[in-house]
Amino acid sequence: MRSFLAVPLPEAVRARLHEVEVELGRGVARVAWVRAENLHVTLRFLGSVDVETLARVEEALAVATGRPPPFTVTVGGLGVFPTPRAPRVLWAGVTDGGDALRALHGEVETALVARGIPPEGRPFHPHVTLGRARDPRGAPGLAAAVGRTETFGQVRVDHVWLVRSDLEPGGARYRVLARQRLGGDAADPSPSPSGPEGVRVDFIGGGP
Ligand code: 2AM
Repeated sequence: MRSFLAVPLPEAVRARLHEVEVELGRGVARVAWVRAENLHVTLRFLGSVDVETLARVEEALAVATGRPPPFTVTVGGLGVFPTPRAPRVLWAGVTDGGDALRALHGEVETALVARGIPPEGRPFHPHVTLGRARDPRGAPGLAAAVGRTETFGQVRVDHVWLVRSDLEPGGARYRVLARQRLGGDAADPSPSPSGPEGVRVDFIGGGP
């Protein structure tokens, strides 16, 4: 199944980013905007993985999150991938705490590689994708947002989620397969989110 590791965002930050999407959406056509409930920082895209690999990913996630304590990042600024001349993705950046996020990504990558999962092999640029041009040549209007530097909010990074993503006609549908707390379970005296069967599949995306 198609899956990825994500840093979830608090509701207030998602709501603020969604306001930006609505504002920019008035001026740009043919962009698929990410639904508020789906906004996140992708820590590691895994692609399509089988159940056996997913178990190794969960193990790697538990190891990688065991040591680093929770930290705070600031979401701010807007930019586009790959270039302002042909912008395909509009994103909000991380202005503070990026180093801690990169370190966490490094821990995850190391733990995945140790379990036979090949590295992504490209630099990690922490960001929150807000919209994607429907045309592969890009949506020129998105470039107007480049250079905006306001702050959208702070995020306490205390969990990483393993998320399943199903591509449906109405957009991606996300389901949380596992949540791992930073600092390890020993640092979290609260009950585990797992149900009696040890698996909790939670719905974070909206339906199509
Ligand atoms: P991004 O939006 O943070 O850039 C779930 O699909 C997430 O995985 C997306 O939000 C996207 O990250 C990332 N993703 C999707 N397809 C990808 C690909 N082919 N390569 C790398 N990351 C991808």
